[in-house]
Amino acid sequence: MSKDKRPCDFTIFGVLGDLSRRKLFPALYQLDRAGLLHDDTRVIGVARHKISQDEFIATIRQSLDTFITGPLEQEVVERLLARLIYVLINLDAPGEYHALCEIIDQKQRVLINYFAVAPSLFDDICAGLARADIVTPQARVVMEKPIGRDLASSEEINDVIGRVFNEDQIYRIDHYLGKETVMNLLALRFANSIFTANWDHNTIDHVQITVAEQVGIEGRWGYFDQAGQLRDMVQNHLMQILTLVAMEPPVNLRGDSLHNEKIKVLKALRPITMENIEDKVVRGQYNSGFIKGKAVPGYLDEKGGNPHSSTETFVAIRVDIDNWRWADVPFYLRTGKAMATKRSEVVINFKQQPHNIFADSYRHLPPNKLIIRLQPDEGVEIEMLNKEPGIGEGVRLQRTMLDLSFSEAFANERIADAYERLILEIMRGSQVLFVHRDEVKRSWTWIDSIQEAWAQCGEPPRPYPAGSWGPVASVALLAKDGREWEE
Ligand code: BG6
Repeated sequence: MSKDKRPCDFTIFGVLGDLSRRKLFPALYQLDRAGLLHDDTRVIGVARHKISQDEFIATIRQSLDTFITGPLEQEVVERLLARLIYVLINLDAPGEYHALCEIIDQKQRVLINYFAVAPSLFDDICAGLARADIVTPQARVVMEKPIGRDLASSEEINDVIGRVFNEDQIYRIDHYLGKETVMNLLALRFANSIFTANWDHNTIDHVQITVAEQVGIEGRWGYFDQAGQLRDMVQNHLMQILTLVAMEPPVNLRGDSLHNEKIKVLKALRPITMENIEDKVVRGQYNSGFIKGKAVPGYLDEKGGNPHSSTETFVAIRVDIDNWRWADVPFYLRTGKAMATKRSEVVINFKQQPHNIFADSYRHLPPNKLIIRLQPDEGVEIEMLNKEPGIGEGVRLQRTMLDLSFSEAFANERIADAYERLILEIMRGSQVLFVHRDEVKRSWTWIDSIQEAWAQCGEPPRPYPAGSWGPVASVALLAKDGREWEE
C-alpha cells in the first residue's frame, strides 16, 4: 500500500454543493483534528458563485457548525479555514480553468481534483484541466456515484475521465468501502484461520446480505425515481459487500490485488434474465404505513412525486456465483427504503451437522451463524449451541451468542465516518478502497440484464407497507429454498 506523505492541493469542484458541505468539510475537519492533514495541505474550493474569499470562509464555517455533531474545537476550525482558497470558475467554461494555474503548485503538493458535481459536468471540467495543462501524471481525480445508469452511460463517463487521467490516477468512490465494518470483512476473513478455512460450499449453506433503510425518499424524488433501488443501492454498495465476502484471498492488500479478486467474482455471477427472473428477484414499492409509531405516506404519495411511477424502492435477489468456492451456495440480497428499521448486516449461515448425536432430544440442530453487523451497532456475533448448565437428565442445549460489540470492545475509539477514511486514502495514494473501471463495467452488465428482464415482463412492483420488511414475496423467495431471512 503506497503511503504518500506529501502535502496536497485538495481541489473541490462544486465546493458550495451539498456533498462538499455535508460530507467533505466535516471529514476534513476530523482529519485535521486527528493531525492527519499535512501542515502544508491546502483546500482549494472551485465554484461559479461570485463570492469573496471571506464569504467563502464564512459559508464553510457555517457548514462545520451545522454538520458536525458535538462541540467544535475552535483551534481546529481556524486551522482548517486557514487552508482554504476560493477560485471562481464557471465549471462549464473550459477556458476559465487557467485561474487554477496561478494557485496550484505541483512541485510542492499533490494535486487532487475532487469532482463533487453532477457527472454531466465531468467532460467540461476535464477539458478545462487539460486546457490549463495542469494534469501531470501525479495528479489524482475523485468521482462519486452515480457512475451512469447502465453500462453504456457508465462507459461514457469513464471514457470522459479516461481521456485525461490514467486508471491509476482515478479514485471512484463507493462510500460503503470507507465504512469501518465493511473493511473489517477483510480482517475477519483473512486474519482468522477459523474463518479462512471454513469459507466455502463445504461449510456454508447460504449467505444473506441486508441493507435496510428506515428513511423513505424524502425530497429526492427527482433523482431516485429515475434510478430505483437496484441502481441506487445494489449496483454499487451491495455488490461491493458481496464481492468482499465472496472473493478469493488476494495476494496482498494492494489495490490491484483486491480489484482482480473482486472482478473475478463479478465475472462469475450467474446472469438473471427473462427466463429466471421470476424465481430470483422480488421488486417492491412501499405504500403508506407506520415508522417509529408515526404515519408515513407511500412512495406514490410523496411530495413532488409521480403517482403512476413503477420505480422499485425494495429489491430482494437470489444471487448464484458460478465458481468452485460457492457452488450451490446462494447469496440472498435485500435492500429497501422505508423499512422496519435501519440495519445493514451480513449473515453467514453454516451447514447443519452431518450427524446429530443429540437426536433423542433434538431432531434438528440449528446451524451456526456468523452475523456481521455493518451498521448501526457495529459488531460481530456467532450464534452457537451450548449445553445448559445443570445435572438433570439428558443434555439440554441452548442457543447462545458470542457477541463482539465494537462500542464495548473499542470503547475509546471513535468510529470514523466513511469520508474521513476515503479522503485520507486518496491523499496517501492508495486505491484499495476505490472501485476499478472493470468492476463498474461488470456490475452494470449484470444489473442491466435484470433491468431489461423487468422491462420485458412489465410487471409493477409489489406493494409493502412502510415500516415492514418488504413484500411477502421476499419471504417466499427464501421459503421455496427451505430458508428464512434473519430477523
Ligand atoms: C446512497 C444512496 O448511496 O447511500 C442513498 O444514494 C442511500 O439512497 C445511502 O440512502 C445510504 O447510505 P448509508 O451510509 O446511510 O447506509
